[in-house]
Amino acid sequence: ETNKTIDLYGKAQAAAHYIRSKTPLQPALGIILGSGLGSFATHVKSATRIPYADIPHFPQSTVQGHSGHLVLGQIAGVPVAVMQGRVHAYEGYSMEQVTFPTRVLGLLGCKTLIVTNAAGGIRTTLAQGSIVAISDHINLTGTNAALGPNEPRFTVLGTPAQRFFDMSTAYSLRLRTLAIEEAARQEFLLTEGVYLAVLGPSFETPAEIRAFRTLGADLVGMSTVHEVIVARHMGIEVLGLSLVTNMAAGVPAYGRETADTIDHEEVMETGKRVERQFTCLLTALIPQIAAQ
Ligand code: 6GU
Repeated sequence: ETNKTIDLYGKAQAAAHYIRSKTPLQPALGIILGSGLGSFATHVKSATRIPYADIPHFPQSTVQGHSGHLVLGQIAGVPVAVMQGRVHAYEGYSMEQVTFPTRVLGLLGCKTLIVTNAAGGIRTTLAQGSIVAISDHINLTGTNAALGPNEPRFTVLGTPAQRFFDMSTAYSLRLRTLAIEEAARQEFLLTEGVYLAVLGPSFETPAEIRAFRTLGADLVGMSTVHEVIVARHMGIEVLGLSLVTNMAAGVPAYGRETADTIDHEEVMETGKRVERQFTCLLTALIPQIAAQ
């Protein structure tokens, strides 16, 4: 074993230890909130809010719309740990830093992770403002969050984490099915889609989006895949939800002649508009997920 793995595991333990010193709550479920979706954290009951800045080794976001608090409490009676804000590789953070909070959620006892993001729509039938359950991903970020020596102690199941691990069922069919059925109960259609991740921070060119469509992508974004890779390494069951905040470059928006240019404002505005629907879906879903 090298100092590097001992270091990462030790750092994650130190962070988990600090968090446990702030609340006796033992989260069963972790939630990572993407751009424009951070307000979901205000729905956590009996909340303990910990600034990322206070948690040993936690990275801090530099992007507007990513507030930077870990919120522990209850949603519909289920103990949860909500990350209000995340850091991205495009900010210059290493893979280890980007996925550090996910490692800590695992050490805190989260056996399930709900990862959310704002994404651009590639599939032309997706509407701006729609929520999509991620069925699979394509990692084109050029790197992998499980890089480095394997640390078998990063596990939630008791079985040692493996050097080579399966990604063929990364996005739990059980959780996707629960989400789709709950959306139907709430009278909206939750479709599934393949999420393709790029490094960013530039949005894509229209030629890149055409290429990504050919590759089988429905959505494009700059997050999520690293956290999901690390979660699967630890044996955490994953639900991924994308909010289509805008159509990707060159994709004609429904009812418009030409596609708009893309900006961060639009991403945040769409988040606000869909907040209620997103909150209702998650709030109803969480107790069903926890019930197993
Ligand atoms: Cl169009 N591209 C990427 N990479 N991320 C996004 C996006 C587009 N829209 C929201 N997030």
